[in-house]
Order: sequence, then C-alpha cells, then structure tokens
Amino acid sequence: MMILGVDIGGSGIKGAIVDTDTGLIVGERHRIPTPLPATPEAMAETLKALVAHFAWQGPVGCGFPATIHHGVVFTAANIDASWVNVDAETLFSQTSGCPCYLLNDADAAGLAEMRFGVGQDKEGVVMMITIGTGLGSAIFVNGHLHPNTELGHLKMKGRIAEHYCSDAVRQREDLGWKKWGRRFSRYLQRLEFLFNPDLIILGGGASQKLANFQDQLFTRAPVVAAQSLNQAGIIGAALYAQERVPAQAEA
Ligand code: BGC
Repeated sequence: MMILGVDIGGSGIKGAIVDTDTGLIVGERHRIPTPLPATPEAMAETLKALVAHFAWQGPVGCGFPATIHHGVVFTAANIDASWVNVDAETLFSQTSGCPCYLLNDADAAGLAEMRFGVGQDKEGVVMMITIGTGLGSAIFVNGHLHPNTELGHLKMKGRIAEHYCSDAVRQREDLGWKKWGRRFSRYLQRLEFLFNPDLIILGGGASQKLANFQDQLFTRAPVVAAQSLNQAGIIGAALYAQERVPAQAEA
C-alpha cells in the first residue's frame, strides 16, 4: 500500500510516499522548515502544505517528537508547550483533509528497522535510540513495540539524558566524538542496566557517524546503525498508518 510518511521534527517536517510492502520510498523526499513558533495550528498548516506538495489524497502516517496516546499529545519536551493535550490526529486530519495517524517519532523509526532494517526477525529485547536534537527511544520485545518509553529523559549526571548526550549537546558544547562518545556510552550502559537489550540500534543524524565513536561504546549488546538511517522515521510512520487504516480503505 502507498502511504505518505511524515517525520515531524523541531527543525524540519519531512515527508515521502512509502511503499509499505517493500519499505521503500517512492520518488523524492520533501522537507519544509518547521514554522516558528511551532504551534499546533502552524504545524498543521505546514503538514497541509506537505500533503499539497505530493498532491496526496490518501492516509498519512506522522512521527511526532512527543508521547502520543490515541492521537493526543501528552508531553512537550522539545516542542511548543501549547501542544500538551492537543488531539493532533484530529487537528492534522481536519486541516490536511487526509486521515492522519500519529505515533512517537522514535517508535516510528523503530518500527521501520524492525520490519525492514537491522532489527528484522530479531527476537528478545531490541532498543532503538535516535540521536538528534533530543534522544528518542523505542523498545521491542519479540518484535512487539512498547510505545512512548521516553528514555531520553532519564537522569544522567544530574541532567536529563538528552541534555547530556544528544547530538545537539555535542554540537552546542563543541564536544569531540571521543568525549561525546564516552558520555553516550554511559547512557547506553544505563539502558543496559535497566532493560538488558539483545541489540541496540542507533538512528537519527549522528547514527551515520557511528564509525567516529563506536570505539568509545562499552556495552554488552551489539550497537549497530539503522539501515534506513535518516529515513526510518518516515518509513515507520507509514507502516503505523497502514496498521490503522480501516480495512475497506485498504482494499
Ligand atoms: C521527546 C521524544 C522524542 C525525542 C526525539 C524528545 O525530546 O521527548 O518524544 O522521541 O525527543 O525526537
């Protein structure tokens, strides 16, 4: 099935048409800068513009950087505070004119990697950590997602983990890969202590630079980069929408 997958982030809203049978992006990806301030109404208008760019009329899957409960945004760590308690699924559907289905962005990236990437057929506990402005997390047990884990918000050295070792922190504090890598390793070790994963998958921009810091990571579980790298969020959002599309629409 073809679905428009969208990855909503703090700096850009990226979309592409995804063939959910193959997990491949069809045609070009399109990115629109996130409006400022990124209020619900402004973001909904940007999503509408993205939908118009693709002249899209079908279902839309959206990865969103917050916890999402039945389409409603519950948290606002790196987004405008006015998002809390907004029924984003309804707002996006009404504004864009297409049925929209929302989930956490890291959960979306994880779904893509479990179905088509390095997590394919992996049993046991698999964790996906996305490294960007924030730290996103997704946990799978025997292929099943436990949604909204928000492990970027664990405390590390008196700070929230994503304020200690996200990619934004690496850039802002001008940390070398070695120093940042040591911080990130401490974070992964904490996750190992709590969840004993069999595999850790890294996504987001920094995962493409894994070779720069892999030698600083001291974990028991293997650490690998997401196969679809920065596209995992778009692909996973489309896979999620496909699960939710009513049966008659799929036929
Ligand atoms: C948010 C998460 C999100 C992560 C990555 C964090 O700040 O709380 O919901 O998954 O950033 O975007």
